[in-house]
Amino acid sequence: MAEIGSQISRDFYGEPVLFLGVLKGSAVFLADLVREVDLNATFDFIGVASYGKRDDAAWESTGEVRLTKDVDQSLEGKNIVLVEDILDTGLTLTYLRKVLLAHAPKSLKIAVLLDKPSRRKLPVAADYVGFTIADEFVVGYGLDYAEQYRNLRDVCVLEGH
Ligand code: IMP
Repeated sequence: MAEIGSQISRDFYGEPVLFLGVLKGSAVFLADLVREVDLNATFDFIGVASYGKRDDAAWESTGEVRLTKDVDQSLEGKNIVLVEDILDTGLTLTYLRKVLLAHAPKSLKIAVLLDKPSRRKLPVAADYVGFTIADEFVVGYGLDYAEQYRNLRDVCVLEGH
């Protein structure tokens, strides 16, 4: 976390940054990340819902994503760091990137706590990655399984999923 924080502080030296967390999974990561950043920073949240089913194997998205909560402010001309818990198929971040770029920000970077590159369906890469992991279903530190486990202190593999 400290590493990503100082990298962001270097990349945006002297500039204000708006951290935009994707609800709800990124809340814990965002809270820790912003405290490692030495910049003039603010934060806001955006909500998305994906249509799909989460069965025993893991999350299978149908590819449809929609906004459930928009930002509370104008993004025009701002440096935005989009903060997401996990980059999996890439559907969510591909959608969000398109929506946010339409607001004409000055810059748009993506920070993810976890990256599962082996599951990617769309070519999207994060600018800041905490950890790259294998194709396992993880919970804790904000991440859920059916809304459970978000409050676990650490990221844990959910056995049998
Ligand atoms: P993507 O659109 O497939 O990249 O999916 C991103 C979203 O899927 C994340 O924001 C999570 O909500 C969810 N997700 C993907 N993998 C996991 C996991 O291992 N644990 C919990 N949620 C996950």
